[in-house]
Amino acid sequence: MRRPLIAANWKMHGRLAMVAAYVAELRAAEIPAGIELVLCPPTPYLDKVTAGVAGLGEVASGAQDCSIEETDGAHTGEVSAEMLADLGCRWTIVGHSERRRGHGESDAVVAAKFAAIEAAGLAPILCVGETAEERRAGRAEEVVVAQLRAVIEHAGADVFAHAAIAYEPVWAIGTGEAATPEVAQKMHEFVRESVARHDRAAAEAVRILYGGSVKPDNAAEFFASAHVDGALVGGASLVPADLLAIAAAAGEN
Ligand code: PGA
Repeated sequence: MRRPLIAANWKMHGRLAMVAAYVAELRAAEIPAGIELVLCPPTPYLDKVTAGVAGLGEVASGAQDCSIEETDGAHTGEVSAEMLADLGCRWTIVGHSERRRGHGESDAVVAAKFAAIEAAGLAPILCVGETAEERRAGRAEEVVVAQLRAVIEHAGADVFAHAAIAYEPVWAIGTGEAATPEVAQKMHEFVRESVARHDRAAAEAVRILYGGSVKPDNAAEFFASAHVDGALVGGASLVPADLLAIAAAAGEN
């Protein structure tokens, strides 16, 4: 049995006051049992979030990205995976489409960052997914498998035993138009088979999350699929009650 994982991607949102209120609301709430919750705030707030959720059962903190550089040095503006681990973070998102497309990160760059996260002892949440154009052209699976292959060739497939993969179709991110549960289920099955071709045990263990306009009112439809092991939540994760409602829906499956 794979334990459901719900990751909150705050993107570039938050202020100190918001962090304090958010953490206070989580601490006062009942966290659904049997699921893992990961809060990924912007880097400047990671320390506060990590301290804020300390001792709160299965709630951990994660980063949204990290440097490709593994060793300290002259890398102005960069934050290494080791620094994130030092802060007490447990997870790091890597290869989000807003990094791939907005910041020119190639599959090879994402694979190197994935390896850096592994080397620092953190668990990666690897984002994969196709654009609307790629889906229309019938290339969705081809794009996703190339994104996976780059990581597997660089870091091996066994690492997925303690990582997560988030399938996030680019056309569903922040648009309010989530994929249908059928589309998600089909791609999640394809992703698991793609990993299984390299490492069957890792494929059984890896949590595959759906991401793209997940809300409290559509989350349960996704979690009903045996291959959807959780969600990567953007917009809705900024409201603690919504994140908890999504987590509760995951817990019920
Ligand atoms: P969204 O974002 O839930 O706002 O669509 C998801 C993501 O980009 O991780």
